[in-house]
Amino acid sequence: MSWRYLAVAIEAVLRAGRIQRDRYASGVAVEYKGEIDLVTEVDRACELAILETIRSRYPSHDVVTEETDLARTGSSHVWFIDPLDGTTNFAHSYPMFCASVALAVNGEIVAGAVFDPLRDELFTAEQGGGSHVNGRRLRVSTANELIRSLLITGFPYDLHEKLAERLRPFNRIMGLARAVRRDGAAALDLCYVAAARADGFWEVMLKPWDMHAGRLILTEAGGKATRLDGTPLGLGPDGVVATNGFIHDALVEALREEPSPALV
Ligand code: IPD
Ligand code: CA
Ligand code: CA
Repeated sequence: MSWRYLAVAIEAVLRAGRIQRDRYASGVAVEYKGEIDLVTEVDRACELAILETIRSRYPSHDVVTEETDLARTGSSHVWFIDPLDGTTNFAHSYPMFCASVALAVNGEIVAGAVFDPLRDELFTAEQGGGSHVNGRRLRVSTANELIRSLLITGFPYDLHEKLAERLRPFNRIMGLARAVRRDGAAALDLCYVAAARADGFWEVMLKPWDMHAGRLILTEAGGKATRLDGTPLGLGPDGVVATNGFIHDALVEALREEPSPALV
Protein backbone atom coordinates (compact mmCIF):
# COMPACT_ATOMS: atom_id res chain seq x y z
CA MET A 1 0.00 0.00 0.00
CA SER A 2 2.79 2.46 0.80
CA TRP A 3 3.80 2.50 -2.89
CA ARG A 4 0.47 4.23 -3.60
CA TYR A 5 1.24 6.83 -0.98
CA LEU A 6 4.74 7.22 -2.35
CA ALA A 7 3.31 7.82 -5.83
CA VAL A 8 1.20 10.69 -4.45
CA ALA A 9 4.18 12.12 -2.52
CA ILE A 10 6.22 12.01 -5.74
CA GLU A 11 3.51 13.72 -7.77
CA ALA A 12 3.28 16.43 -5.09
CA VAL A 13 7.02 17.21 -4.90
CA LEU A 14 7.36 17.17 -8.70
CA ARG A 15 4.54 19.74 -8.98
CA ALA A 16 6.18 21.95 -6.36
CA GLY A 17 9.60 21.52 -7.96
CA ARG A 18 8.27 22.67 -11.33
CA ILE A 19 6.99 25.86 -9.69
CA GLN A 20 10.37 26.38 -8.01
CA ARG A 21 12.26 25.85 -11.26
CA ASP A 22 9.98 28.23 -13.17
CA ARG A 23 10.31 30.96 -10.57
CA TYR A 24 13.99 30.47 -9.72
CA ALA A 25 16.11 33.54 -10.35
CA SER A 26 13.06 35.58 -11.42
CA GLY A 27 12.90 37.63 -8.19
CA VAL A 28 10.21 36.85 -5.65
CA ALA A 29 8.32 38.85 -3.03
CA VAL A 30 9.65 38.07 0.44
CA GLU A 31 7.81 38.36 3.77
CA TYR A 32 9.39 38.00 7.19
CA LYS A 33 8.32 35.39 9.76
CA GLY A 34 11.25 36.55 11.92
CA GLU A 35 14.35 38.72 11.45
CA ILE A 36 16.10 36.04 9.32
CA ASP A 37 13.17 33.65 8.76
CA LEU A 38 11.65 34.27 5.32
CA VAL A 39 8.63 33.10 3.40
CA THR A 40 8.10 33.83 -0.29
CA GLU A 41 5.13 33.69 -2.63
CA VAL A 42 6.76 30.55 -4.07
CA ASP A 43 6.60 28.76 -0.68
CA ARG A 44 2.86 29.46 -0.68
CA ALA A 45 2.29 28.46 -4.31
CA CYS A 46 4.16 25.19 -3.73
CA GLU A 47 2.18 24.50 -0.58
CA LEU A 48 -1.08 24.98 -2.47
CA ALA A 49 -0.02 22.59 -5.24
CA ILE A 50 1.08 19.91 -2.75
CA LEU A 51 -2.07 20.27 -0.64
CA GLU A 52 -4.25 20.00 -3.73
CA THR A 53 -2.45 16.83 -4.83
CA ILE A 54 -2.81 15.13 -1.45
CA ARG A 55 -6.31 16.28 -0.59
CA SER A 56 -7.79 15.29 -3.93
CA ARG A 57 -6.75 11.67 -3.11
CA TYR A 58 -6.96 11.52 0.66
CA PRO A 59 -9.38 14.13 1.97
CA SER A 60 -9.66 12.48 5.40
CA HIS A 61 -5.92 12.36 6.14
CA ASP A 62 -4.35 14.92 8.48
CA VAL A 63 -1.77 17.35 7.14
CA VAL A 64 1.06 19.19 8.90
CA THR A 65 2.47 21.82 6.58
CA GLU A 66 4.92 24.63 7.23
CA GLU A 67 3.09 27.72 6.05
CA THR A 68 -0.49 26.95 7.18
CA ASP A 69 -1.75 25.79 10.54
CA LEU A 70 -4.36 23.16 9.66
CA ALA A 71 -6.75 21.56 12.17
CA ARG A 72 -6.02 17.88 12.92
CA THR A 73 -8.81 15.30 13.10
CA GLY A 74 -6.81 12.53 14.79
CA SER A 75 -6.43 10.53 11.56
CA SER A 76 -3.95 7.64 11.72
CA HIS A 77 -2.49 9.04 8.46
CA VAL A 78 -0.52 12.29 8.71
CA TRP A 79 1.28 14.02 5.82
CA PHE A 80 4.26 16.30 6.53
CA ILE A 81 4.93 18.98 3.94
CA ASP A 82 7.86 21.32 3.46
CA PRO A 83 6.76 23.10 0.28
CA LEU A 84 10.14 24.78 -0.18
CA ASP A 85 13.04 23.67 1.99
CA GLY A 86 15.87 26.14 1.63
CA THR A 87 13.81 29.32 1.34
CA THR A 88 16.74 31.59 2.18
CA ASN A 89 18.77 29.94 -0.59
CA PHE A 90 15.85 30.29 -3.02
CA ALA A 91 15.34 33.97 -2.16
CA HIS A 92 19.03 34.62 -2.95
CA SER A 93 19.11 32.43 -6.09
CA TYR A 94 21.56 30.10 -4.32
CA PRO A 95 20.94 26.77 -6.06
CA MET A 96 20.16 24.46 -3.12
CA PHE A 97 16.50 23.90 -2.29
CA CYS A 98 13.79 21.28 -2.69
CA ALA A 99 10.26 20.19 -1.85
CA SER A 100 9.73 17.47 0.76
CA VAL A 101 6.67 15.31 1.50
CA ALA A 102 6.36 12.40 3.94
CA LEU A 103 3.48 10.28 5.23
CA ALA A 104 3.28 8.74 8.70
CA VAL A 105 0.79 5.97 9.44
CA ASN A 106 0.12 5.15 13.09
CA GLY A 107 3.20 7.13 14.12
CA GLU A 108 5.61 5.53 11.63
CA ILE A 109 6.94 7.17 8.50
CA VAL A 110 6.04 4.92 5.57
CA ALA A 111 6.80 7.03 2.50
CA GLY A 112 8.91 10.06 1.66
CA ALA A 113 9.90 12.06 -1.42
CA VAL A 114 12.32 14.96 -1.78
CA PHE A 115 12.79 16.71 -5.15
CA ASP A 116 15.65 19.02 -6.12
CA PRO A 117 14.37 20.69 -9.31
CA LEU A 118 17.67 22.27 -10.39
CA ARG A 119 19.61 18.99 -10.40
CA ASP A 120 16.49 17.08 -11.40
CA GLU A 121 17.06 14.65 -8.54
CA LEU A 122 14.12 12.83 -7.02
CA PHE A 123 14.93 11.05 -3.75
CA THR A 124 12.33 8.52 -2.64
CA ALA A 125 11.79 5.88 0.02
CA GLU A 126 9.13 3.46 1.04
CA GLN A 127 9.28 1.74 4.41
CA GLY A 128 10.99 -1.63 3.91
CA GLY A 129 11.55 -0.95 0.20
CA GLY A 130 14.91 0.83 0.24
CA SER A 131 15.56 4.33 -1.03
CA HIS A 132 16.38 5.63 -4.49
CA VAL A 133 17.49 8.69 -6.41
CA ASN A 134 15.89 8.81 -9.87
CA GLY A 135 15.27 5.07 -9.51
CA ARG A 136 18.87 4.19 -8.55
CA ARG A 137 19.29 2.43 -5.20
CA LEU A 138 20.97 4.46 -2.45
CA ARG A 139 23.49 3.18 0.04
CA VAL A 140 25.26 5.15 2.80
CA SER A 141 29.04 5.60 2.95
CA THR A 142 31.45 3.43 4.93
CA ALA A 143 33.50 6.14 6.70
CA ASN A 144 33.98 5.06 10.28
CA GLU A 145 35.91 7.92 11.87
CA LEU A 146 34.98 11.59 12.24
CA ILE A 147 38.39 12.64 10.96
CA ARG A 148 37.63 10.81 7.68
CA SER A 149 34.09 12.23 7.48
CA LEU A 150 32.43 15.06 5.59
CA LEU A 151 29.62 16.34 7.80
CA ILE A 152 26.76 18.76 7.17
CA THR A 153 24.94 20.90 9.67
CA GLY A 154 22.36 23.65 9.80
CA PHE A 155 21.26 26.34 12.24
CA PRO A 156 17.77 27.21 13.42
CA TYR A 157 16.36 30.71 13.00
CA ASP A 158 17.06 31.62 16.66
CA LEU A 159 20.76 31.68 15.80
CA HIS A 160 21.24 35.39 16.50
CA GLU A 161 19.64 35.14 19.95
CA LYS A 162 21.64 32.02 20.92
CA LEU A 163 24.84 32.46 18.96
CA ALA A 164 27.33 31.20 21.57
CA GLU A 165 25.21 28.16 22.47
CA ARG A 166 24.63 27.23 18.82
CA LEU A 167 28.30 27.64 17.88
CA ARG A 168 29.76 25.55 20.73
CA PRO A 169 29.05 22.13 19.18
CA PHE A 170 29.80 23.47 15.70
CA ASN A 171 33.26 24.71 16.76
CA ARG A 172 34.02 21.44 18.51
CA ILE A 173 33.01 19.28 15.55
CA MET A 174 34.87 21.51 13.07
CA GLY A 175 37.98 20.43 14.95
CA LEU A 176 37.12 16.72 14.81
CA ALA A 177 35.81 16.14 11.27
CA ARG A 178 37.53 16.29 7.89
CA ALA A 179 35.15 19.10 6.92
CA VAL A 180 31.74 20.53 7.79
CA ARG A 181 29.32 22.09 5.28
CA ARG A 182 26.26 24.24 5.86
CA ASP A 183 24.03 23.95 2.79
CA GLY A 184 20.76 25.45 4.03
CA ALA A 185 18.25 22.75 3.08
CA ALA A 186 17.86 20.10 5.78
CA ALA A 187 15.77 17.70 3.67
CA LEU A 188 18.48 17.58 1.01
CA ASP A 189 21.21 17.34 3.68
CA LEU A 190 19.61 14.10 4.89
CA CYS A 191 19.33 12.78 1.32
CA TYR A 192 23.01 13.57 0.76
CA VAL A 193 23.96 11.37 3.71
CA ALA A 194 21.72 8.64 2.26
CA ALA A 195 23.49 9.03 -1.10
CA ALA A 196 27.00 8.79 0.51
CA ARG A 197 27.79 12.36 -0.59
CA ALA A 198 28.28 13.11 3.10
CA ASP A 199 28.81 10.84 6.10
CA GLY A 200 26.71 12.61 8.70
CA PHE A 201 24.43 15.54 9.49
CA TRP A 202 23.22 17.19 12.66
CA GLU A 203 21.01 20.11 13.54
CA VAL A 204 19.86 21.16 16.99
CA MET A 205 16.23 21.93 16.21
CA LEU A 206 14.33 20.79 13.16
CA LYS A 207 10.63 20.87 12.39
CA PRO A 208 8.84 17.64 11.43
CA TRP A 209 8.41 18.80 7.81
CA ASP A 210 12.17 19.43 7.50
CA MET A 211 13.18 15.93 8.41
CA HIS A 212 10.61 13.14 8.02
CA ALA A 213 11.00 12.39 4.32
CA GLY A 214 14.80 12.70 4.47
CA ARG A 215 14.91 10.58 7.59
CA LEU A 216 13.17 7.66 5.93
CA ILE A 217 15.33 8.05 2.81
CA LEU A 218 18.41 7.85 5.04
CA THR A 219 17.36 4.87 7.16
CA GLU A 220 16.20 2.96 4.07
CA ALA A 221 19.70 3.55 2.64
CA GLY A 222 21.19 1.83 5.69
CA GLY A 223 21.81 4.96 7.79
CA LYS A 224 20.74 5.95 11.27
CA ALA A 225 18.76 8.97 12.53
CA THR A 226 18.23 9.72 16.23
CA ARG A 227 17.72 12.59 18.62
CA LEU A 228 20.88 14.50 19.60
CA ASP A 229 21.44 12.22 22.60
CA GLY A 230 21.13 9.06 20.49
CA THR A 231 17.60 8.16 21.61
CA PRO A 232 14.82 7.44 19.08
CA LEU A 233 13.11 10.27 17.22
CA GLY A 234 9.37 10.74 17.36
CA LEU A 235 7.23 12.75 14.97
CA GLY A 236 7.56 16.14 16.72
CA PRO A 237 10.17 18.90 16.39
CA ASP A 238 13.59 17.79 17.62
CA GLY A 239 17.33 17.90 17.26
CA VAL A 240 18.69 15.31 14.84
CA VAL A 241 21.86 13.31 14.37
CA ALA A 242 21.78 11.45 11.05
CA THR A 243 24.71 9.38 9.86
CA ASN A 244 25.89 6.39 7.85
CA GLY A 245 25.62 4.45 11.17
CA PHE A 246 29.37 3.88 11.51
CA ILE A 247 30.15 7.33 12.94
CA HIS A 248 26.88 7.69 14.83
CA ASP A 249 28.10 7.09 18.37
CA ALA A 250 31.13 9.30 17.83
CA LEU A 251 28.99 12.18 16.52
CA VAL A 252 26.48 11.82 19.38
CA GLU A 253 29.37 11.86 21.83
CA ALA A 254 30.94 14.91 20.17
CA LEU A 255 27.62 16.74 20.52
CA ARG A 256 27.53 16.27 24.29
CA GLU A 257 28.49 19.37 26.25
CA GLU A 258 31.46 17.51 27.68
CA PRO A 259 32.40 14.76 25.24
CA SER A 260 34.66 11.96 26.45
CA PRO A 261 38.06 12.25 24.66
CA ALA A 262 38.14 8.47 24.22
CA LEU A 263 35.07 8.43 21.99
CA VAL A 264 35.62 11.36 19.68
C1 IPD B 1 15.35 25.52 6.91
C2 IPD B 1 16.44 24.79 6.18
C3 IPD B 1 17.78 25.02 6.84
C4 IPD B 1 17.76 24.64 8.31
C5 IPD B 1 16.64 25.36 9.03
C6 IPD B 1 15.30 25.05 8.35
P1 IPD B 1 13.25 26.36 5.44
O1 IPD B 1 14.08 25.26 6.32
O2 IPD B 1 16.17 23.41 6.14
O3 IPD B 1 18.79 24.25 6.24
O4 IPD B 1 18.99 24.98 8.88
O5 IPD B 1 16.60 24.89 10.36
O6 IPD B 1 14.28 25.71 9.02
O7 IPD B 1 12.86 27.46 6.38
O8 IPD B 1 14.15 26.82 4.36
O9 IPD B 1 12.09 25.54 4.97
CA1 CA C 1 12.51 23.46 5.97
CA1 CA D 1 10.12 25.62 4.06
